[in-house]
Formats: sequence, structure tokens, C-alpha cells
Amino acid sequence: MKIEGKEQQSLWFKDDTLYFIDQRKLPEHIELFKATTVEQVSFAISEMVVRGAPAIGAAAAYGMVLGKEDIEKTADRLKRTRPTAYDLFYAIDHMISRIHAGDTPHDAADLYVQDIIQRCKNIGEHGSQLIKEGMRLLTHCNAGALATVDYGTALAPIRVAHHKKKNIFVYADETRPRLQGLLTSWELYQEGIPHAVIADNAAGYFMKNGDIDLVITGADRIAANGDFANKIGTYEKAVLAKENNIPFYVAAPISTFDQSIKTGKDIIIEQRSDQELRYYKDAMIMMDQTPVRNPAFDVTSSRYVTGFITEEGIKKL
Ligand code: MRU
Repeated sequence: MKIEGKEQQSLWFKDDTLYFIDQRKLPEHIELFKATTVEQVSFAISEMVVRGAPAIGAAAAYGMVLGKEDIEKTADRLKRTRPTAYDLFYAIDHMISRIHAGDTPHDAADLYVQDIIQRCKNIGEHGSQLIKEGMRLLTHCNAGALATVDYGTALAPIRVAHHKKKNIFVYADETRPRLQGLLTSWELYQEGIPHAVIADNAAGYFMKNGDIDLVITGADRIAANGDFANKIGTYEKAVLAKENNIPFYVAAPISTFDQSIKTGKDIIIEQRSDQELRYYKDAMIMMDQTPVRNPAFDVTSSRYVTGFITEEGIKKL
């Protein structure tokens, strides 16, 4: 991804330190968060310094390096950070098997992360074939380079289409309560891709008016039958897309496909703190006494999915 014109990853490991672009501070400030312990990596994942399924997996892979020889304890701590994104569990289990096979943790983590970057690049190439000249796309949350180390999942095809000089326009859902749509807008701005942020509840308006040709979202966990969990609000966008005859694609690498789960009913949905709804940054926007519910993800049935854009090509499950 470009940041102020320079190529940059969302996280990297150097001199026994894991560096993150602190996503809590964007888009106002570009600040780094440094982790040298497993506890700091766990904090970064839980508190969303780093977020997005593949990026969480990459962070956990380096967390396994910082855990040194205490493999089981480190794996257990990291797995307790967030429950929904499968990449977290996939990356940790992959690291354990590579370490048992004799790889150094550092080499295994570097390879895992390089592999994820390449997979996202391939998702971009495959998915860009769906994007025709002049198309207007909708995306939800942030499934860009910030969420994946580089390129993105849903944003990778958009990046590639833009590099191929296709004229496109992107609608980015604001994505309450954590406003990841602003991260998407920030990434698109850095790349010079024309776009607009819309309130979450505006997507139906634009779809019905014929302003959206294609929807691409990411995924946090995909069950064997193609039901998938993604950021809260994805389900309603998928239903609206079907109602308005708009193709709905899900972009994700193999590390997001959980074959051990048959249907979406078995996916654990993370419930996050009330404070995420009650406050906008430091400003309280509802009373402390106001009861709230804050599920971070929802599950969309595979019947709403036109296809899955993977590193191996476009599939229907
Ligand atoms: O809670 P988050 O911000 O980690 O949720 C992220 C999403 O839901 C993304 O859309 C998903 O991880 C796919 S990202 C490549």
C-alpha cells in the first residue's frame, strides 16, 4: 500500500520487535505501535491496533516468535484475543506445525506473511476480471492492505483494476461502530481511487437508485457450505444486493476458510464492549445507562454469495 507516496506494509518485524501502523489513530495520525512481548501483541489484536482477519493472523505468527520456546502457552494466549477471524487460529496452528517440523519461528513467520501478501496479490488479479470499465462498487468495513499486511482482500481487485486504468468508483460503508470505512477511504485516497464514504444505512438508497454495479466484501470466517462471517452489517448488504440484482462477491484467502465448520450457525460471533457504541473517540454520544448490544460480526448465508474470490480463482461453494 502507498502511504504518502511510499510503499508500506501494515505491520513488519525487525530486531525482535513487531511494528504496527496503529489503526486506532488513523486517519488523523500515522503512528507506530511497537510490540516486543506476547502480551503486547495480544493487546494489539484485542484492542484493534491491528485488525482484519489476515493481518490478525500475521500478527499472531510474529507473536509466536516473541513467545520464544513457550509454544503452547503463547498459542493459548494469542488464541484468546478474538474469537471470530479464522486466520488467527490458522496462522497459530500453521506456526506450531512449522516449528515442530524444524523451522525457526522467525523464518516460519516471515514465510507465512510473505505468503499471505502473495495470496492477496493473486486475489487482486483474479477479482479484477470482474471489474469492468466504469463500474461503481460497494465495499463494507476495511478489507484493504491495513487488514491484510498488503494489497487487501476486497480492495485488492479494486487496486488492480485502478492500476489497469479502469475508471471505477467505490462506495465505502462507514461501518459503525468502529468506522473501518474511514480506513478504506484513507487507503483509497492514498492510491488516488475515486470514492465516497456513505453511512451504513445509505447503501439501500444507492442500490435502488442503480448507483452500484458490484459489491465486494472480505470475510472473517467461511464455513464449508459457504456461509460466512464478516463485519456487522454485511448480511443486510448481501440481502439488499440480491433484492436489487447486484452481484455480491466475497474476497478471502485460504486462511479464512474453516473446513471444520459445516455451516454459519457454528461460527462464534464476538461481542465487543458497550463503550464502542457509547463513545465517538472521547465524546460520549449516549448515556452511560443506555443499554446497548454490540455484536462485531454477522453471518451471511452462502445463497447470497455470487462467488468467492480466492488466490486460486473465483469459486462458488
Ligand atoms: O473487527 P475487524 O475490523 O477486525 O473486522 C474486519 C472485517 O470484518 C473485515 O472485513 C474482514 O476481516 C475481512 S478483512 C480482509
